[in-house]
Amino acid sequence: MSTPFPDGFLWGAATSAYQTEGSLDADGRGASIWDSFARIPGAIEGGGDASIATDSYRRWRDDLDLITELGLGAYRFSTAWSRVVPDGRGRIEPRALDHYERFVDGLLERGVTPVLTLNHWDMPQALMDEGGWLGRGSVDAFVHYATAVAERLGDRIPWWITQCEPWIVQLLGYQLGLHAPGLADLASSVRAGHHILLAHGAAYDAMRPLTSGRIGAGPNLLPCVPASDSPEDRAAAIGSDGYVNRWYLDPLFLGKYPDDMRAHWERVAGPLDFIRDGDEAAIGGRMDFLGLNYYTRRVMTAAEVGPNRSFPWQVVRAPEESRLTDEGTEIVPEALLALLLRLKADYPAVPILITENGLTSNETPQHDGRVHDVRRIRFLRAHIAAMAEAVRQGVPLAGYLHWSLLDNFEWALGYRPRFGLVFVDYPTGQRTIKDSARHYSALIDADGDLD
Ligand code: NOJ
Repeated sequence: MSTPFPDGFLWGAATSAYQTEGSLDADGRGASIWDSFARIPGAIEGGGDASIATDSYRRWRDDLDLITELGLGAYRFSTAWSRVVPDGRGRIEPRALDHYERFVDGLLERGVTPVLTLNHWDMPQALMDEGGWLGRGSVDAFVHYATAVAERLGDRIPWWITQCEPWIVQLLGYQLGLHAPGLADLASSVRAGHHILLAHGAAYDAMRPLTSGRIGAGPNLLPCVPASDSPEDRAAAIGSDGYVNRWYLDPLFLGKYPDDMRAHWERVAGPLDFIRDGDEAAIGGRMDFLGLNYYTRRVMTAAEVGPNRSFPWQVVRAPEESRLTDEGTEIVPEALLALLLRLKADYPAVPILITENGLTSNETPQHDGRVHDVRRIRFLRAHIAAMAEAVRQGVPLAGYLHWSLLDNFEWALGYRPRFGLVFVDYPTGQRTIKDSARHYSALIDADGDLD
C-alpha cells in the first residue's frame, strides 16, 4: 500500500440545503433571498427554481442510504437559515431543528462524520429587507441563528463551517448581481464581505462554549498565476490574489486585511469606514480548521482601470492545451498542490479540510442504465494524487469532500450543470449511482491508494 493519508482522514461528499432540499413551504420555513431571486425573470437559466430540487428534505433517508452504500466517511450539508429562523430574527422553528437532528443522528448511526455549514447562501428574506449583509445588524442575526443550531447539535457536530465562499457571495451577490440578492454595486460588495467575515468571528465566539467541534470558515481559493513573466503580469497575479484569496485569509488567520488590497479598495470603492476599530481583531484567530473549496486557478494579465474596469488585472483564457469541464472551467490539479503548499507556508498550521472540489460533467444514463462519467474519475484521481503529494510534503490535510453527492440546483445556472457523483432524474427524483461514485468508493476502501 502506498497511501500517505493519515488514519482518520475524512473521505466524503458535500451538498447544501437550498440546492437539494426542495419543500420550500414545509415545517414553517420562511422565505429566503434565493426564493425571491429565482422569481426574477431570466435570473435562473432554464427558468427553473429550487422548489423540488433533489427533494432531499423528504428523501433524506434515501440520501443516507446512498452515503452508506458508497462507503463515505463524512458528509457535508447545510442547515437552511430561513428554516431555522423563518423571520430572520426572534422565533426559532423547532421543526427545522428536529429535521436536522434526525438527519445528523442518521449519519452518526451509520458511522458517518457530519460536517455542517451554517451559511450556504440562503439568508432569510426578512433580513434582506433590512439590507442583508450591508447592515451591521446582520452579524447579530447570524449569531442568533448559529447559536440556535449549536445549542441543538453542538454535542454531535465535529466540524462547523460558518460561512461558505464569502468572495462568491460578495462578487456574484453584491457586486455583479448574478446571484441573490442581485445587487450590483462595488462599494456595497466590499461592505457585505466585511460583515460576512465579522459574522464568522462573532458566531465563533458564541458557539465556542456550545460545542467541542472545530469551527472554521470555508473560502473558495483560486491560485492566481501570471500569464507571462512580465513584471506587469506578475503584479496582476499578486493583485488578483489579494482580491480573491488574501482579502479573506489574512483577516481570518492574521487578524488584518492586507495593505495592498485595502489601498486598492479605497481607490476604487471609496472609504472603508464600515471597518471599525477592533473589527479585524474580532475576525482573526478564530479558525480551528480551514474549509477549502478548490475548483480551478486564475491566469492573470495586466489591464487598464477605466470606466468599466475597477481592477488593474484580468483573467485570460485558459491555455490551449488545458483540460476543461463542460462549463469551460480549467482543470488544474497541480494548482491544488501549489495552493496547499502555499497555505502551509503563509498561514498558521491548522488542519485543512477540502470542503469542495468537483466538476461539471454532464453525462446521462446510457442504454445499460449506467452513467459512464470517465472524466469525473480522471478528475478525482488527479486531485487525490495532488493531495497525496501535499500530505507527503507535510500539509496537514484532514479530509476531502467531493462536490457533490448529487446532481443539484446550480444556482443561477439552474439544473444544466451536473456536479454529482450520483445522477438525479429531476422529473422523478430517481437517483443513479455514476461510475465515478463506484470508483471513488473503491478508492476510499483503499485509503486513497491510486495503484
Ligand atoms: C461553490 C458552492 O459552494 C456550491 O454551492 C456550488 O454548487 C459549487 N461551488 C459548484 O459551482
